[in-house]
Amino acid sequence: MKKVSVGLLGFGTVGTGVVRLLTQEKERLEARMGCSIELKKVLVRNKNRPRKVLIDSRILTTDASDVLDDPEIDIIIELIGGVDKAYRYILRALQNKKNVVTANKDLMASYGEELLLEARKSKKDLFYEASVAGGIPILRTLTDSLAADRIVKLIGIVNGTTNYILSQMSHEGLSYEKSLQSAQSLGFAEADPTSDVEGLDAARKMVILSHLAFSIPVRMDDVKITGITDVTREDIVYAQKLGYTVKLVGVSEVNNGAIDVRVEPTLLPNGHPLASVDNENNAIYVYGSTLGETMYYGPGAGEGPTAVSVLSDLLAVIRNMNLGVTGNHIFLPRREMHNREENS
Ligand code: NDP
Ligand code: HSE
Repeated sequence: MKKVSVGLLGFGTVGTGVVRLLTQEKERLEARMGCSIELKKVLVRNKNRPRKVLIDSRILTTDASDVLDDPEIDIIIELIGGVDKAYRYILRALQNKKNVVTANKDLMASYGEELLLEARKSKKDLFYEASVAGGIPILRTLTDSLAADRIVKLIGIVNGTTNYILSQMSHEGLSYEKSLQSAQSLGFAEADPTSDVEGLDAARKMVILSHLAFSIPVRMDDVKITGITDVTREDIVYAQKLGYTVKLVGVSEVNNGAIDVRVEPTLLPNGHPLASVDNENNAIYVYGSTLGETMYYGPGAGEGPTAVSVLSDLLAVIRNMNLGVTGNHIFLPRREMHNREENS
């Protein structure tokens, strides 16, 4: 049986989920892909940290070269988070002719075009389904299933931590601080939760979604961002009395060729489908000019759901390897977009 070797960068919440799911489902997944899938090396910061899932400690390393420069490793899964190191590691992996799967929205929102161009140049895959909305397969939906339609608007709850906090404050009467602590201990929050509560994480996801939905390059600077740090329990209770629910909502729409992207706490009438999206769940409403409204809902953060997206990307890479093709989600690079416009 052919063997595919995988190198994992990061063994925290999502990395643990990936190892757990790969171990649990190994037989089924290998039969499905017609190859054995071997986890060869795992990069961590601290090899002595207790781990939540059993792993052969000999495959743990603190030296990125052990993973990135191992000629036997075919696919790198990047789950360390952050931008600088993750960027360098992914670039090096692609240049070393390895396929890459990542869940890193910070990186993809800022350097996605560049890295996808590198992937194309290296004839390798770079998949990032888990970077938006955890377990909801929204990127493939936009790039594949809805490709024929002209998308005009996206509305989404795309941050699990803030949705969890607002739900806990609203339904359980918990304080903001207690709710945030709970989101952190459940593994929903970023290493630095400021990016969740200040709306940056949701904005990064809206950048990625907008880029894929509208084929218009969007930058973080283009997004108007307000987080939930000023939302009080009194605001929530008052809104409830008036028949509204407070949610951190991202909106992206094209008006007369210009794109408007914003993330802000929003009062939704209780009957609105997004008002009942609770806890760490996410939902994305997509308005297509022919299809009309569709909505995609599910767990938007956490170990298991995110691992499903990451591993499904891994399987997509293996499928492409078996077929001898690559298939990046296409971020239209700026230059090509402009050439197209000039030529049209
Ligand atoms: P964690 O903070 O739980 O885990 C990070 C892991 O990376 C740890 O194992 C840590 O090692 C390792 N690590 C961090 N920096 C380095 C470094 N410089 N060198 C070597 N190893 C390093 O993060 P998550 O698992 O929550 O998130 C990972 C990625 O997935 C992020 O990009 C995040 O945004 C994204 N994501 C997270 C989701 C979630 O629900 N948590 C959902 C969707 C995406 P050690 O264990 O030794 O400290
Ligand atoms: N911190 C992120 C969230 C993780 O809460 O949505 C999933 O991307």
